[in-house]
Amino acid sequence: MKKLIILNHKMNLKYDEALSYINSIKNNLGNIYDVIICPSSIYLNLFKDSGYEIGSQNVYCEDNGAYTGEISPMQLQSMGIKYTIIGHSERRYYFIEDDSLINKKIASALKNNISPILCIGEKIEEKESSRTELVLESQLLSDLNNIDIQQLNNVIIAYEPVWAIGSGQTPTMDGINNTIKYIKDCINKKYNINLRVLYGGSVNKDNISEIMKIESVDGVLVGGASIDASQVLAMSSTN
Ligand code: PGA
Repeated sequence: MKKLIILNHKMNLKYDEALSYINSIKNNLGNIYDVIICPSSIYLNLFKDSGYEIGSQNVYCEDNGAYTGEISPMQLQSMGIKYTIIGHSERRYYFIEDDSLINKKIASALKNNISPILCIGEKIEEKESSRTELVLESQLLSDLNNIDIQQLNNVIIAYEPVWAIGSGQTPTMDGINNTIKYIKDCINKKYNINLRVLYGGSVNKDNISEIMKIESVDGVLVGGASIDASQVLAMSSTN
């Protein structure tokens, strides 16, 4: 299986910029890695023309109903979208999403055959008080609570230290390796399966190669650098 690059555009790109981005990357990305693009939800349909797998950045836990502004997993499935990011630290922080809601969103996405990309990670104060492993284990246990073991195989985990997101800082390569191994061990001990675990937080064209070389890392989740088509072209062909 190829390692994975997931591009999280967050709330960026105007319409004309999205069109020219698609134009630049269409059929142009390297084929060393699998690529999933997560554009703003209003552009999901546009990006289906990009030739790459598409994911949403968010999803709600109900299929339909009176939830103004929300994104339905059933609607995503009906558009052929196979992935969704769930539990990103920006959603946890700005939109007060807790582990219980994240758990419901994961169950709903899976019910609709959408693979959740579950983001977990410690805040700076948790890192500084040596609570990283405790925090990660607690997020994993709550977010995956009661998820059917057969469906669990479709979950992708993204380890994103909150302090590394958008900051230009990353853990050391050993640090990434050890934490990803720890996450894999936790999942393996509890569910007896191996899930893909990605690293996210200040990944760019200059550090992607070093990070992808870490054996335990199954791919990367890229935010800021993902809205620059030329960086994406470079990252997709750097091994
Ligand atoms: P960043 O964001 O690459 O800008 O640090 C990563 C993310 O939030 O997924």
